[in-house]
Amino acid sequence: MKFVKIEEILDGKHTDKKVAIRGWVYRERKQKKVSFFLIRDDSGIIQTTIKLDSKDWENSQELSIEASVQIEGVVKKDDRAPGGYEIKTEKLEIVGLAERFPITKDKSEEFLRDVRHLWIRSRKMTNILKVRSAVFEAIHQFYKKKGYSEIQSPSFTKSACEGGSTLFEVDYFGEKAYLSQSWQLYAEAMIFSIPKIYCIAPSFRAEKSRTIRHLAEYWHHEMETAWMNFDELLKFQEEFIVFIANYVADKCKKELEELERNVDELKNLKVPFKRMTYEEAIKKLGKKWGHDLTDAEERKLVKQIGEPVFITHFPREMKAFYMQPDSENPKTVLAADLLIPGVGETTGGSERIDNAKTLEESLKIFKLNKKDYKWYMDLRKFGSIPHSGFGLGVERLVMWFAGAEHIMDTIPFPRTMNRLEP
Ligand code: 4AD
Repeated sequence: MKFVKIEEILDGKHTDKKVAIRGWVYRERKQKKVSFFLIRDDSGIIQTTIKLDSKDWENSQELSIEASVQIEGVVKKDDRAPGGYEIKTEKLEIVGLAERFPITKDKSEEFLRDVRHLWIRSRKMTNILKVRSAVFEAIHQFYKKKGYSEIQSPSFTKSACEGGSTLFEVDYFGEKAYLSQSWQLYAEAMIFSIPKIYCIAPSFRAEKSRTIRHLAEYWHHEMETAWMNFDELLKFQEEFIVFIANYVADKCKKELEELERNVDELKNLKVPFKRMTYEEAIKKLGKKWGHDLTDAEERKLVKQIGEPVFITHFPREMKAFYMQPDSENPKTVLAADLLIPGVGETTGGSERIDNAKTLEESLKIFKLNKKDYKWYMDLRKFGSIPHSGFGLGVERLVMWFAGAEHIMDTIPFPRTMNRLEP
């Protein structure tokens, strides 16, 4: 018999018919003459019943939470059952018995992360991982529609892209190397070959801070575009975010509802997003020029505004060496962070310096060794062009979409300063 997905049964597609399902025991209630087993697969949970006179009764009494089974039986509508349907078991096959499952009610978040290899089976994790998968799918669809090419860059690098403090050092055949923080410097070389490119790849940051939005290894979506200026970059990003939000709201309606996430907020997201300069932002927070916004301040700001907002025109020294100074106010750069509700910064992007002299000056300001950036400097010497790009922390976007309170819940096996296992 062909196995059906549980959600099909819950959608009423097999009522009064015989079906076969396979999955795991989610809950069990054993009574004298009848036993109830809730069975889960990734699509849903359904109640099954088995009676004392069944040839499989004895076997069924061995079942406990997370045992794997295949069940054949007839689907009946029953309002008393969770989800409104029930399977009357005619044949039960135990595939794998389960020991006493260590996850019970009211376990701490920390414990659940210690047993992530088992907690990954929870409805919460299944739903979040489906949302995550839809985000990846949407990113590829968006770029296909826009005529972009997906290109990769190396994970072992010689020099920093986003500052030395978060570099992971590795021994590269006796030579000092670092794990990549960003594809950007390579992307800036690649746009001379293909002008519209993007990637999704792991980035590595030796983040020593413990926050709800920092991982040591995260999935970084980045794009780089030749001939694109700062205004065009912001328009591109807001169109991108709205596309992804709508796509996920449509594709994962059921998962988002189960996660108690307001789907309409994502469906009704509209361009343009609000824009605020760094100067306006610090004024609003009662801070002085030169103050770097903290995670908490970013979230406070976006909470006050109530929707995604771009913070633009940061002080040059506060940001990265490759950012183009604003010609109207050269102490600021043409850079923007997009802040989203509950998270704060989720994208960082800028127009890039395209002039060799300005870049040299920038390396000096940031006290970077010219030798380490020799090939990068070459890009300004052979037909340099204006260009822009941005990077997005995929897990931060998933946090917002899924309403997750911690970034560790948006990736199957998180890596942080304190967590390398499981
Ligand atoms: O702002 P960042 O450091 O920018 C760059 O890496 C640029 N080279 C991107 C570009 O222009 N191509 O990082 C970009 C985004 C941040 O906005 C944030 O969402 C995410 O990457 N991010 C992290 N996400 C999770 N954990 C961390 N430790 C992160 N660090 C940055």
